[in-house]
Amino acid sequence: MKVFITGGAGFMGSNFIRFILGKYPGYEVLNFDKLTYAGNLENVRDLEGDARYQFIKGDIADEKAVKDAIETFKPDAVINYAAETHVDRSIHAPRDFIFTDVIGTYTLLEAVREFNVARFIQISTDEVYGSTPQGKFSEESSFNPSSPYSASKAGGDHMVMAYWKTYKAPIIRTHSCNNFGPFQYPEKIISLFITNILEGKKVPLYQGGEKNMREWIYVEDHCRAIDHILHYGESGEVYNIGSGDEIANIDLTKRLLRLLHAGEEVIEYVTDRPGHDFRYALDSNKLRELGWAPKWSFEEALAETVEWYKAHEAWWKKLKNKDFEKYYTQQYEERK
Ligand code: NAD
Ligand code: DAU
Repeated sequence: MKVFITGGAGFMGSNFIRFILGKYPGYEVLNFDKLTYAGNLENVRDLEGDARYQFIKGDIADEKAVKDAIETFKPDAVINYAAETHVDRSIHAPRDFIFTDVIGTYTLLEAVREFNVARFIQISTDEVYGSTPQGKFSEESSFNPSSPYSASKAGGDHMVMAYWKTYKAPIIRTHSCNNFGPFQYPEKIISLFITNILEGKKVPLYQGGEKNMREWIYVEDHCRAIDHILHYGESGEVYNIGSGDEIANIDLTKRLLRLLHAGEEVIEYVTDRPGHDFRYALDSNKLRELGWAPKWSFEEALAETVEWYKAHEAWWKKLKNKDFEKYYTQQYEERK
């Protein structure tokens, strides 16, 4: 099978490429990635030289680049991981989110239609359903996004569904809960807090949002879910990908502090995220009935992740550079 993967230099895309090339010796992958601040060729360095793997630097919103790449590679499937993904950055500067997550998704859909690609999988998020104090979102729940990030993802997802209803384009949508694990850019809570603690810095916990809940899945279990959907999912369908492992931000923070032998004085309460969603939670029975289930326990996966960051200091230290520091300072200054 030939698989065209967008955003494969990011966190989840790079894990997925390594996963499917490892599992299927006969598969070929084209990684199409713009290499934004979050895209990093170090994440796929070990795949260079593998004859089954190729990389093209390109923007999913660039019609010509997308069509040329799909026409030449002739994929059996396109999996769209590419996106602007960080909620805080979307609050700060929404424009790139709209271009990539909406126009980029539309551009890929057009190419899929024109070149009759047999499968398109949209990697999306539980955030499109909005926040809920209790209960779980099913695939039938309506969209109620809060941030410019989730609104952009919802826009892209609606377009994906429209291509199924209007053109019978062979699409599948997925909505996942929060991922964590190796190669996550150190701006999300788990990767930021682990690396800050290792650097001897404080961890910025959003005050007022410290009891907010997230459902967490280890990225390898997400890879296995997408692999399962790629092979057994049905066109036109939507699948939630959830682990059932929910934890409040404050409890997650304390768990990380324990794993890294740091005290609670490391916690620094900072201004809350505007429009901060309290809780996301997914009913993922539909995918479980199709035959997938997560393998990792949250405790084991979190400990594994901490060990990975400890062993890959050079990788994340390079990313926490001057631009990174400038962005963080500016973000908190603006919120004061
Ligand atoms: P990431 O920010 O680590 O990586 C995104 C990748 O997309 C980067 O390599 C970047 O260079 C690339 N990219 C961005 N704009 C592009 C463009 N215009 N053209 C081509 N490439 C572009 O993201 P991630 O955390 O790996 O998330 C991957 C996908 O999964 C996203 O669609 C995200 O919305 C979705 N998702 C993420 C999570 C999570 O917890 N991280 C949970 C659910 C869904
Ligand atoms: O739910 C899936 C989504 O998970 C994905 O679609 C997004 O791409 C991904 O970024 C993630 O969004 P969140 O906003 O849930 O993740 P983040 O790690 O940014 O924040 C998790 C929680 O931690 C949230 O309640 C805000 C809080 N937080 C986050 C950061 C970065 C802090 O308290 N301090 C921080 O510095």
